[in-house]
Amino acid sequence: MITLKTPAGNSHAGLIGLGVYRPTRVVPNSEVIEAIDSSDEWIRERSGIIERRFAQSHETAASMGAIAAQNALDDAKIKAQDIDVVLVATFSHRFQTPSAAAEIAALIGANNASAFDISAACAGFCYGIGIADSLIRAGSAKNILVIGTEKLSDIINMSDRGTAFIFADGAGAVVVSPTSTQGIGPTIWGADGNARESIIMDPDLITAGKEGIPSLLTMQGQAVFRWAVGSMGDVCNQALAAAELDVSDLKAFVPHQANIRITDAIIKRINLPQHVVVARDIVTAGNTSAASIPLALHALRESGEIKKGEPFLMVGFGAGLAYASQVALAP
Ligand code: COA
Repeated sequence: MITLKTPAGNSHAGLIGLGVYRPTRVVPNSEVIEAIDSSDEWIRERSGIIERRFAQSHETAASMGAIAAQNALDDAKIKAQDIDVVLVATFSHRFQTPSAAAEIAALIGANNASAFDISAACAGFCYGIGIADSLIRAGSAKNILVIGTEKLSDIINMSDRGTAFIFADGAGAVVVSPTSTQGIGPTIWGADGNARESIIMDPDLITAGKEGIPSLLTMQGQAVFRWAVGSMGDVCNQALAAAELDVSDLKAFVPHQANIRITDAIIKRINLPQHVVVARDIVTAGNTSAASIPLALHALRESGEIKKGEPFLMVGFGAGLAYASQVALAP
């Protein structure tokens, strides 16, 4: 029997750099309420959102992702040429193919990297961290850029009461590399494809192309809310148990910034102690899907609420219905 060489992996992986890009245009609730017959109070109360950011017309998911990626490289003090894999979580890139990752790799000069996108919507960033951790420990790569980037303002119906006030634009990225001790806990992940129609682009791209109508994001808000509140606490508890960390040992909880009421419900389910900082970037950033976790982590780092090496819990969830959670040490 022929046996092949098993690749020699690195024993440990961790996050060593973080960078973001926030579009400059601030869009307060007052700008979105007219088209959906809503109010500033309703939006604040139901979602926590006060304002969000929309990208300019010339900006794209890839161009914003490239800026976040460069900022993460600078933070990690690593050159683009030393990146082996560019991995992008997005569902608002302009092309089905080629990938946003290939475009970003070219924009930042990551000429030695493989490049591919992950389609896991709001869970995409946590999927990416899990994949990057595994690739490094399996010996398939050394330095990996994991990027979450979205220009959702291009694919939302500004007259849809269930989505227009929630979604927004932005990008965040981390560098994942070999480290001397493990900086990423085991990833707990999954997907319930039977419920995939509860967040879906409508119509599908083929129909949209044939009929000349835009394919836009639709969501059954209550079904998604119930699923997230009912299941994500358990997923978080599994991620904590897998990392062998008690919830009281956390420095911060950085959930996907879906909706502040979902965050509050998960906090209750996992009995999060008062001293653990909770990321509430959604208040001024809206729901930026795959970008929301790195953006929220960056905000905590900027305010000094989390420092390098301190443990935080992430959980991403959304279309698919896909979810993923892990503990990591802050870059
Ligand atoms: N502005 C003002 N009123 C609105 C409204 C809006 N944008 N959308 C709905 N309403 C009204 C409805 O007409 C209804 O009024 P009624 O009670 O007089 O009939 C009432 O608010 C409740 O409507 P409902 O559709 O049940 O809203 P909700 O309480 O479920 O809140 C969401 C809607 C979208 C905020 C909520 O479903 C939600 O947070 N879902 C999860 C969304 C999410 O996080 N998605 C991202 C996952 S990645």
